[in-house]
Amino acid sequence: MADRQSVSRRRFLGTGMAVGSAVLLAPGQGRAAEGDKDDIRCGFIGVGGRGFGDLQAIHKSPGVKVTALCDINGKNLNRAAEHVADDGPKLFEDYRDLVAFKGLDAVFIATPCYLHAEMAIAVLDSGRHCYLEKPMAITMKDLNAVHAATRRSKGILQIGTQLRYASPWKPTLEAITSGKVGKPILVRAFRNNAGNFPGNGWFVDPVKSGDVMLEQAVHEFDIFNAIFQGVPRRGAGFGGQALRESVGPMHDHFTLCLDYGENQQVGYTHSWLAARDVGCDGMNEFVYCVDGTVDIHGGHIYHREAKIVKKSAVGTQPAEMTNREDVPRESKGDSTQLAVDDFFRCCRKGERPLANADTGRDAVLVGLLCRKALAEGRVVTMDEVLAEA
Ligand SMILES: NC(=O)c1ccc[n+]([C@@H]2O[C@H](COP(=O)([O-])OP(=O)(O)OC[C@H]3O[C@@H](n4cnc5c(N)ncnc54)[C@H](O)[C@@H]3O)[C@@H](O)[C@H]2O)c1
Repeated sequence: MADRQSVSRRRFLGTGMAVGSAVLLAPGQGRAAEGDKDDIRCGFIGVGGRGFGDLQAIHKSPGVKVTALCDINGKNLNRAAEHVADDGPKLFEDYRDLVAFKGLDAVFIATPCYLHAEMAIAVLDSGRHCYLEKPMAITMKDLNAVHAATRRSKGILQIGTQLRYASPWKPTLEAITSGKVGKPILVRAFRNNAGNFPGNGWFVDPVKSGDVMLEQAVHEFDIFNAIFQGVPRRGAGFGGQALRESVGPMHDHFTLCLDYGENQQVGYTHSWLAARDVGCDGMNEFVYCVDGTVDIHGGHIYHREAKIVKKSAVGTQPAEMTNREDVPRESKGDSTQLAVDDFFRCCRKGERPLANADTGRDAVLVGLLCRKALAEGRVVTMDEVLAEA
């Protein structure tokens, strides 16, 4: 396997931990209070930057015990093992040994993107539930293979597109898809990152990350697909690299136009060019619909008519009306924690996750369309992308 670093066994031994063998630290201390019933045994492959964040969320999720951890980087593995030491996890440096370990009901995967497919297929074929960080895969062939594995597996698959689980995305998307604002017509969206590309090595190699449209913009593509309830029919775009020619053939900016058919379009700009503290930095989606406009990040719906009561009538004073409706802020909180908790709820109930194999596949399809359109400088249809399988 490419990119494999050697794990220093001395580090583990030095901290009293053994790789792939004995249970580590004595359980029973820390999070698990007396009487807690841990009903889900969870493993984790790839406990780097994002993985450690997911692991912290898992550790806060009631009834979940982290029984196995895997990483080829000893430092990251040690940090993770220390964090969940009260669960006494077994440690592995080869993910296949973790998958072969019997004491697991569910496995999280947060490794570099090019490893997602083979690892997720191994987990799903072992019958375990799988939480796979986005993107689901970075090639059409791998995407189909993971999708096929979910169909034959006893386990469920949830993808790490966690925005769908939290405010402001969840309630605003529900408002749009319920028809409350009429048919969505146009989305104007952007994501502008400041600072440098992540310095983990694999990100700047498009063969390993899929480039920014697959590694990062899949979050937004997932939102666009949710708004229009499907995938675009075609797309075109322009972009390139302006500031970082030394780091690898990655796009640090692109502008994309997606046509969802039925007179529904997206205009999307994604960049990694912003200087720090620029006012327009960040991400946003405005959705222009037949009966109003939705500011997703602001959590507001602007109706065409002023039909929302701002101040009730008092005596002879008429009610003050506004066209702005504030979307209820339920599902407020950390999107990752909400997504992780919902994954375990789905595991227990046997329910299909909100971010499932279909939504994960559709988000990647838009990424593949975008990548092809930018590379070939022309309008690319979704049929062409699907034909690449
Ligand atoms: N959902 C989100 O918002 C979000 C945010 C950031 C990253 N991510 C995704 O999470 C994944 C990881 O990204 P990251 O930023 O944590 O990267 P990272 O480089 O910080 O971490 C990856 C980890 O995987 C380990 N690893 C690599 N090859 C391995 C192998 N063969 N077996 C076991 N472990 C292996 C590395 O040693 C490292 O610890 C990527 O897919 C990325 O797209 C998701």
